[in-house]
Amino acid sequence: MPTNFIANTSINMVFLHNGSMLPREAAVASLLRTTSSDSFSSTVITNITLHVTPQKWNCSVSSPCCPFFNSKRSRCKWKRLVRSCSTSELVISSDENYGNKQVVGLTPRLYDYVLKNVREPEILRQLREETASMCGSQMQVSPDQAQLLAMLVQILGAERCIEVGVYTGYSSLATALVLPESGHLVACERDAISLDVAKKYYQLAGVSHKVDAKLGLAIDSLESLILNGEAGSYDFAFIDAEKRMNGEYFELLLQLVRVGGLIVIDNVLWHGKVSDPLVNDPKTISIRNFNEQLMEDRRISTSMVPIGDGMTICRKR
Ligand SMILES: C[S@@+](CC[C@H](N)C(=O)[O-])C[C@H]1O[C@@H](n2cnc3c(N)ncnc32)[C@H](O)[C@@H]1O
Repeated sequence: MPTNFIANTSINMVFLHNGSMLPREAAVASLLRTTSSDSFSSTVITNITLHVTPQKWNCSVSSPCCPFFNSKRSRCKWKRLVRSCSTSELVISSDENYGNKQVVGLTPRLYDYVLKNVREPEILRQLREETASMCGSQMQVSPDQAQLLAMLVQILGAERCIEVGVYTGYSSLATALVLPESGHLVACERDAISLDVAKKYYQLAGVSHKVDAKLGLAIDSLESLILNGEAGSYDFAFIDAEKRMNGEYFELLLQLVRVGGLIVIDNVLWHGKVSDPLVNDPKTISIRNFNEQLMEDRRISTSMVPIGDGMTICRKR
């Protein structure tokens, strides 16, 4: 019975999420519903998802009122579920295919801890604070993401980079700061007002000479780089603009980046919507399809990293 248990004590809620409910699981679901007055404040059951809100975390795992607990396997699963509720940061995948791996899910408290372990340069902090009062500030990459991007650039020893979607410049500045003096970053943005903020900070940080800020549609800027004979000459690219255009950006960047270079794509988890079969708006579908295409694409190796809103790192083969 492949079932994912996700527990979070801060909202006192447990989700038992089933990709598709087997007849046996449906029976369990209805059993849980019958015990709702006893152990659960509410249950919502649909064809594919079972949401349970327990009132008592310490409910007996051998409860005679619920045949769900009769099999040893079910009792083990329930024990794991209850245990997970006391360590709210844990998400437990109990699918036996994955060996009952425990992975950390970020709560606000744990994310604060992560941020305390980010070495954010002072100039980036200032830019982040100025951007906070601007429209669209939630679009900015998080400090831990920017730190990872900068580290990838450093590990690669990158000299030539491209960013698609600059906004006020947080991720591009993080990149420019770690480029060598001879480094070059093409920064593509269609919005003049945000790009002006970015340029101000490139200046303040003393990295303007490394950044070629291109105002206009990113597709046009990337095509002109290719026409200019720059294919295969870039080490690193970051995509963070119009999500439905990810496929187009990716194809052009794959031409511009050298073999062994990286293309990183932001927002691949799209606030978790990509994994929810009930969410099917055009943007989510497009990101979901793009993620599938990357998985199939033999021209690259990939790694999806659950940082920020999810970033996929692709290495050109
Ligand atoms: C998510 S924000 C980028 C955030 C940025 N990486 C940061 O860390 O601050 C997306 C940006 O892409 C820009 N954008 C969207 N579509 C674009 C396009 N077709 N060409 C160029 N820029 C575009 C938007 O104007 C917006 O500023």
